[in-house]
Amino acid sequence: MASGREQFGSNMAAVMAMAGSAIGLGNIWRFPYMVGQGGGAAFVLVYLLCVVFLSVPILLCETIIGRRAQAGTIGAMEKLAPGTGWKWLGILTVISPLIILSFYSVVGGWSIGFFFQSLSRGFCVGDTGNFAAFTSSLWMPLVCNTLFIFATAGVVAAGVKSGIERFNRISLPLLFIFIVTIMVYSLSLEGSSEGVRYLLKPDFSRMSPRVLADAMGQAFFSLSLGVGTILTYSSYMKKEDNIVRSGMGTAMFDLAFAVLAGFAVIPAVFAAGIEPGAGPGLIFETLPFVFASMGEQLPFISRLISIIFFLTVVIAALTSSISMFEVGVAYLVEERHLSRRRAVLYILLGTWALGSLCAVSPAVFDFCDILTSNYLMTFGGLLFVLFVGWKMKRSDVWGEFTGEGGQRGNARIFGFFYFFVRYAAPVVILLIFLSNLL
Ligand code: TRP
Repeated sequence: MASGREQFGSNMAAVMAMAGSAIGLGNIWRFPYMVGQGGGAAFVLVYLLCVVFLSVPILLCETIIGRRAQAGTIGAMEKLAPGTGWKWLGILTVISPLIILSFYSVVGGWSIGFFFQSLSRGFCVGDTGNFAAFTSSLWMPLVCNTLFIFATAGVVAAGVKSGIERFNRISLPLLFIFIVTIMVYSLSLEGSSEGVRYLLKPDFSRMSPRVLADAMGQAFFSLSLGVGTILTYSSYMKKEDNIVRSGMGTAMFDLAFAVLAGFAVIPAVFAAGIEPGAGPGLIFETLPFVFASMGEQLPFISRLISIIFFLTVVIAALTSSISMFEVGVAYLVEERHLSRRRAVLYILLGTWALGSLCAVSPAVFDFCDILTSNYLMTFGGLLFVLFVGWKMKRSDVWGEFTGEGGQRGNARIFGFFYFFVRYAAPVVILLIFLSNLL
């Protein structure tokens, strides 16, 4: 069935690619800030439960579909449910990652811009309004967005093994080395312990339905669920790979990176005497200020750290954007029989056009962000879960989950998994969807 189709070289390579997709901007700015707001360690605990009991099963559903079908999203629906309305799920999940990519690449572009600035002249304390000036200039966001999209396309054009796999194999260890370096620096700053306390103090009184819904939403977003990227990557996994192990591995890498990023960002912010704010402002406004004020005493070190920091953001964003780009390419190559190069060119032109619009228009940016993060991702996730629970044959699901029965440990938990996928997961995802709607 897999004749002529590229595959990842090993189980570890597949895990690294999926972890690369998962680790991104969501880990670096959204997670640290949510931890602080949601009651510190209490939030981390709730988030951990959401990841293990919600994200991992949904991730496994995408993996089961992708690896069973050995095809991208539309191809998978045509193979596993030919001639049915499920084809629309395939179409939806080819389109949504491209919409995500369009605004994600803008933020990737900002990171490139800030990386260049830290290289060329660094940040000064008097630089207030830097971010606003950057984003409201016409050509800077456009140029940086273009650089980012072309870099993404370049990796995807090189193929599954020598492009995507190789890039992730190098990037993932680098990301961890960089974030740990920044964390060590951050924790060494005077006044950072206040930030550590902010992250660690378990405050269960902050728990509310709203915080719980946020934790679930973050568990969804951070693992790149619901838009077919995990499905597509899984279709490059080998039949003998243990999907439960790789799903858990992916989730653990993602969680570890989020926690490290929390300890890298928040203590530094506190050390500079600022309260952590929300959203993109945290890394594009607050942190440059932090680097600048540290730079008054230690110009060299703080400059170096700011370079490493924005390089980390660029790489983390690239490993995610590559996975979004690949979904569309897989469709054009497999279903439309285009060459990989031509497919990359078409997707590049489309996302570049929409991305440029997002780069110059905050309204288009917000529209794409809200449409995908709040609605399309959860909706897609719901349909994937229903597909595995109610449409696929139980024996096929069992076969994928247990390696045709060979993986004993997986066989033992299959009953629980299957029950969860059929009944509990759809209800929980529907609740997240509704809470976003309100
Ligand atoms: N997981 C990515 C992050 O944390 C963001 C993301 C959301 C994503 N949906 C995705 C990445 C789909 C790839 C594909 O930054």
